[in-house]
Amino acid sequence: MKNKRCIVTGGCGFIGSALVRHLVLEEKVKVLVVDNLTYAGVPESLKEAGLDVDDLPPRGEILMPEEGPGLLIADICDTEAMARAFREFRPDTIFHLAAESHVDRSIDGPGEFIRTNVMGTASLLQVSLDWWREHPSFVFQHISTDEVYGSLGEEGFFTENTPYSPHSPYSASKAASDHLVRAWHDTYALPVRITNCSNNYGPYHFPEKLIPLVILNCLDGKSIPVYGAGANVRDWLYVDDHVKALCLVNEKGRDGETYNVGGHNEKTNLEVVKTVCAILDDLRPRADGASYESLITYVKDRPGHDLRYAIDPTKLMTELGWKPSQNFETGIRKTVEWYLSNEWWWRPIREKRYSGERLGKG
Ligand SMILES: NC(=O)c1ccc[n+]([C@@H]2O[C@H](COP(=O)([O-])OP(=O)(O)OC[C@H]3O[C@@H](n4cnc5c(N)ncnc54)[C@H](O)[C@@H]3O)[C@@H](O)[C@H]2O)c1
Repeated sequence: MKNKRCIVTGGCGFIGSALVRHLVLEEKVKVLVVDNLTYAGVPESLKEAGLDVDDLPPRGEILMPEEGPGLLIADICDTEAMARAFREFRPDTIFHLAAESHVDRSIDGPGEFIRTNVMGTASLLQVSLDWWREHPSFVFQHISTDEVYGSLGEEGFFTENTPYSPHSPYSASKAASDHLVRAWHDTYALPVRITNCSNNYGPYHFPEKLIPLVILNCLDGKSIPVYGAGANVRDWLYVDDHVKALCLVNEKGRDGETYNVGGHNEKTNLEVVKTVCAILDDLRPRADGASYESLITYVKDRPGHDLRYAIDPTKLMTELGWKPSQNFETGIRKTVEWYLSNEWWWRPIREKRYSGERLGKG
């Protein structure tokens, strides 16, 4: 990243923290994390990157240590606080990941998704525009999802030209934010990049999402909820491969362009669940010798559940030379191993923040 100074919004979340660990530990660049520490924000995910979690700054105050990432605990909708972060940190680029990210929660409470994902993105675009007018090499990078494209049938892939057709409040709010980013580029010439990525998985994934939920329910001997018949297909990408794509797009991507990110790892939800069960049967067999698969329970489907997502990553691969390092089989094993070795991270979350209850029944 050539000594770039990077703001990462949502840097205490799943993908944001993976990006921050990479930027600080591998790229050795200066990072300021901007995060509101919602239920999904976990500063402990940045311990490895050098954040002192016992000495977090008061809300609204910028912590900028010599080593490790800086931190501003603030809401991205707070335009004044964002402008101060830009003035004090002087970024070359912003990776914008802060969002409400769980489809089920968006069914229960869409308002917060519209506030953070739409209004929050608009607030950052406005602050970025003012900053870019005085710092012309600045780039705004928006991290988005393949869910904006809607649902595929049995065949075909999402390309960068697939028309938007979001179905959930979450995907509609992300689609709106993508449109805002393009509008600020087309109207004001703000330099932007957009990436639309498939489902991520890996270490430090908040336990409400499918893969960590399955792992932790297995370890706690709880039932594993599978929505409908478990036939919905998602295209799974190991989080560190997403992070490498984000850095490549930031460095070498073309202004105003969109890049789809995915590694051709389509699996039905039931396949994912059964794979996790088989790995745990191997690594942590149950005392009674039964397979973890016996914990599977079929529950009522999610309303408006998209059938299939699948990404065509040709543009990212041919134009920027991106190649994923993990396939689903290698990545999922690493992930299960990580949860087995890192109970210090997930146990307090399961006990204090989210213990696995069903969300988003509609
Ligand atoms: N998880 C996926 O599979 C996936 C796939 C493609 C794209 N994305 C996108 O990547 C981004 C990160 O996803 P994730 O899975 O890491 O999410 P996450 O829910 O794990 O983390 C979101 C982070 O944003 C912070 N945040 C929320 N509201 C905020 C606000 N108003 N102000 C400041 N910070 C706020 C939270 O505290 C949290 O740390 C999101 O924009 C999401 O839409 C996710």
